[in-house]
Amino acid sequence: MNDDLIIKTVDLTKSYGPHVALNKLNLSVPKGATGLLGPNGAGKSTFLKTILGLIQATEGDGTVLGLDIRTQGDLIRSRIGYMPEYDSLNPDMEAIYQVKYSGELLGMNPIIAQARAHETLQYVGLGEQRYRTIGSYSTGMKQATKLACALIHDPELVIADEPSNGLDASARKYMIETLNNTVVTGKRSVLMASHLMDDVEQVCDNFILLHKGKLAAQGRIADLKAFDREIEIHVWGGASRLAEAMEKAGLSVRREGRVMRILHQDEDTTHTILKCAADVGAQVRRMHEYEASLEDLFLSIMENLGYDVKSSDDLLASPAQARKVDAPEHMGGGAA
Ligand SMILES: Nc1ncnc2c1ncn2[C@@H]1O[C@H](COP(=O)(O)OP(=O)(O)O)[C@@H](O)[C@H]1O
Ligand SMILES: [Mg+2]
Repeated sequence: MNDDLIIKTVDLTKSYGPHVALNKLNLSVPKGATGLLGPNGAGKSTFLKTILGLIQATEGDGTVLGLDIRTQGDLIRSRIGYMPEYDSLNPDMEAIYQVKYSGELLGMNPIIAQARAHETLQYVGLGEQRYRTIGSYSTGMKQATKLACALIHDPELVIADEPSNGLDASARKYMIETLNNTVVTGKRSVLMASHLMDDVEQVCDNFILLHKGKLAAQGRIADLKAFDREIEIHVWGGASRLAEAMEKAGLSVRREGRVMRILHQDEDTTHTILKCAADVGAQVRRMHEYEASLEDLFLSIMENLGYDVKSSDDLLASPAQARKVDAPEHMGGGAA
């Protein structure tokens, strides 16, 4: 096995009755931090549960850390830390005992589990509140407790399902920073599922995009950045003059009538736009950073890969094309 791969699946399929939630996924996940992206219902949680052996694959095979997902689920779960999407905590338990208990379930000696519970709760920012019952915790604190449970045995791979779901801005920031620490300082691998591009971007180097149970794209997040950041302006009077002036100033402009999108090159881009507008006497009525939606991103990826795809449905109507954008060969995938 390639030592740099932590997860590999071959034609992995999971059906819930007639509903195909994972459709012949051929994935190779390298060491490091990977974001599992996709809209709700794409199959992210199903994928994670299947590779952990928590639910049985309908067809296909896979390995996690070289272990068979069909027969070695217990071993896999002892080597990785899993932070599930659903609420897995006992509201009547004090956090310290809940975290200790999750270590004991993995076969840790109770004294070591207790010591580690103190450490991990400190690590996720709950050091002061560790003797409170979980029922009295905020959502952010519960999510942090789930992360502490996942980290109790110091796993080499952490799998987190929507870790920042339902959190307010500050709890979300803290969760993302903690995951980032785990990768950067702790040198652990992380696979995090999220429908939020932003969160994934802050923690992960690589992404996997699932769409309706299929692999839509996989690659490096850095390669997505170009699609991600544009400034949209609405111009009143002198739109053509402004477009021309901005291009002369070295900006990359996409124009549709009065609406223009300018590639965000650096922190001076906004200033340059406004200066050009002042120079040619055009009025910028609205200006905002344009964030590509997942769908936009998805289409951009396809386009970038050289496919003429009008919408994600087109892609799905054409399985041969979908296979072509399966995991790239250099990542060990089944690119056709
Ligand atoms: N236990 C289940 N029984 C039947 N259908 C399910 C079950 N779990 C998930 N699904 C369906 O499988 C698809 C993928 O769901 P899920 O893996 O939860 O997606 P995601 O995590 O990307 O939002 C969805 O259409 C969902 O409705
Ligand atoms: Mg999910």
